Amino acid sequence: MPFTIKVNGNSHSVDVDGDTPLLWVLRDVLGMTGTKFGCGMALCGACTVHIGGAATRSCITTIDSIGTSQMTTIEAIGGTPAGAKIQKAWLDHEVVQCGYCQSGQIMSASALLASNPRPSDADIDDAMSGNICRCGTYVRIREAIKLAAQTNEKVG
Ligand code: FES
Ligand code: FES
Repeated sequence: MPFTIKVNGNSHSVDVDGDTPLLWVLRDVLGMTGTKFGCGMALCGACTVHIGGAATRSCITTIDSIGTSQMTTIEAIGGTPAGAKIQKAWLDHEVVQCGYCQSGQIMSASALLASNPRPSDADIDDAMSGNICRCGTYVRIREAIKLAAQTNEKVG
């Protein structure tokens, strides 16, 4: 059946079963392949997007559960204040290794920074604990989030 979803500021009409995971719709229907499939069971974080500003695992989020909520994906996160800071810090710290997990990492980090401009180490660990990186980039991820947060401190 048709559903209208709002992604990155645009409305899309998609004709899929109601129990179709959002990740499938993003990648296979809308062709937005920046969001990655890892486990399909909410265990790795590779598929993280924002729904209503909250970091959400799109692999277990059915299309009929989203309603009119605004969604943001990795394709547009750089257009948000927190996302722009996170992406710059990622580049400055050369966080990425193979890159597969990084869309999800950036989405989780951006949601954290948007809701908590000066996160503590514990806040960072808590927000990022569900995002797995098989390349072990965790130290650089934490440093990049701290760098982005320092930018917040400078601007007040
Ligand atoms: S693919 Fe969604 S959490 Fe792993
Ligand atoms: S950069 Fe390779 S899995 Fe994270």
